[in-house]
Amino acid sequence: MIISYVQTKGGTGKSTLALNTAFSRHLGKRYKSIALVELDPQGTIRNWWSERMELGRNSSKVSFHHISSTQKEVFQDGISSIASHNQVIVMDIPGESTGKLHTRFACAVSDLVIIPMRTSTNDETAFADNLYPIIKDIIKVEPKKKTAFHVLPSFTHPQSKKSYLIEYFQEILPPNVSCLQAIYPTRSIYENFNREGSNLYEYAQAVKGNKRSARQASAAIDDIEEIAKTITDILEK
Ligand SMILES: Nc1ncnc2c1ncn2[C@@H]1O[C@H](COP(=O)(O)OP(=O)(O)OP(=O)(O)O)[C@@H](O)[C@H]1O
Ligand SMILES: [Mg+2]
Repeated sequence: MIISYVQTKGGTGKSTLALNTAFSRHLGKRYKSIALVELDPQGTIRNWWSERMELGRNSSKVSFHHISSTQKEVFQDGISSIASHNQVIVMDIPGESTGKLHTRFACAVSDLVIIPMRTSTNDETAFADNLYPIIKDIIKVEPKKKTAFHVLPSFTHPQSKKSYLIEYFQEILPPNVSCLQAIYPTRSIYENFNREGSNLYEYAQAVKGNKRSARQASAAIDDIEEIAKTITDILEK
């Protein structure tokens, strides 16, 4: 099973979402082996992972793989080999303005493609111009992919109503792209939980003595758990 976070626009939370989804309790309870795969030559997660390993953090169920090639055959072989050893793969795809090689590949091989997107005219236009044409091409070749593409309303105001945001996206999204039944709010904790190679869960443990940070961490964990649950609900349907 392959889940990818894809968005041609940069800085929309893909890497943050991918690594925390891979470590979510929800996925951890369901799957014995989870592979976190980074296709981004930038290596955002790779750097974080090296720090994690140096500090000896435990990643028992989650393995990490970085594929930095720009050759389709190398992705294909890499992903097939990882898929043969893992029940689920969570992929982090780079934001790409040109070529969109990684985006095309991820959209084609994934069972579920999650597209983090803000409620902004800029993001909506960028999606329509850059990512939607790729989605349309893939569905044309493989019509069963019609249910694979889901927008995740992202960087939402923490006080915004989830049902309102979902309704908004359902109205504006084109055919064959749905809105996930979850949202990804803006929270400052997402900018610093990853210090010293920790994931959100380890960070929450480390700040449990500080009421304010603990509350933030717990809210972020709820976000991630809900996202993970909606993902498995779709895959298991
Ligand atoms: N929910 C959030 N609230 C606030 N800040 C966030 C949130 N999610 C991610 N960030 C921050 O936003 C920045 C971009 O996040 P991230 O690297 O995950 O995006 P990305 O889509 O992977 O970017 P790229 O396209 O460059 O790969 C980072 O500094 C991250 O800490
Ligand atoms: Mg990234």
